[in-house]
Amino acid sequence: MKGVIFNLFEEFIVETFGDEAWEKILDASPHEAREVRVGPLTYPDGHLLHLVGAACEVSGLPPEKAVRAFGRFLFGGLARKYPGIASQFAGPREMLQGIDSVIHVEVNKLLPGAETPRVLCQEHDDGSLTLTYESSRKMCTLLEGLLDGLEAHYGVTVERRHDVCMHQGAPRCELRLTFSAARAAA
Ligand code: HEM
Repeated sequence: MKGVIFNLFEEFIVETFGDEAWEKILDASPHEAREVRVGPLTYPDGHLLHLVGAACEVSGLPPEKAVRAFGRFLFGGLARKYPGIASQFAGPREMLQGIDSVIHVEVNKLLPGAETPRVLCQEHDDGSLTLTYESSRKMCTLLEGLLDGLEAHYGVTVERRHDVCMHQGAPRCELRLTFSAARAAA
């Protein structure tokens, strides 16, 4: 996984739980998972998993909740770090439709060697959309978190039915998404 993802994970921990929590997470992680990381370079996925495991111990959050919360944060972080990529879409649907053909294509140019997942969309007559996700990493919980971030970014609600899942033996995940109008400000 690219260094930028590790860097945003550190930001997520520090902003959510404070500097001390990050220090504790590093202390609880194996030596090789503690190195300083540079955005464009690639580091073993296992190191991120160690850090997530340590974050769960320190925060008391179950892994699924921690990964999902990180996904939400990650969306905002990526949109901030790559404003030119994120700002070119008229709305959430357009962005989702552009993940594979635009966003991750540009990411692969900027960060050679990135291993971005395959995320495709299929439109339905009732306005809903089927999102398929395929990756050897099987990080559909992170994908759900990214969708939470997309909701917050565009101020919409995206209802999901995640009936087909790689964790239940399917070759890819399928999420049926239904969009609701902008939420009133809380
Ligand atoms: C501003 C928009 C976005 C940017 C700049 C971006 C960039 C990236 C980058 C840099 C990675 C790491 C690849 C690697 O380390 O090899 C990644 C992974 C990923 N992206 Fe995106 N992304 C964006 C939006 C999205 C959206 C909207 C989704 C889905 C809702 C998505 C789904 C994923 C997933 C699930 C991964 C984890 C890797 C995997 O599953 O194999 N991304 N993205």
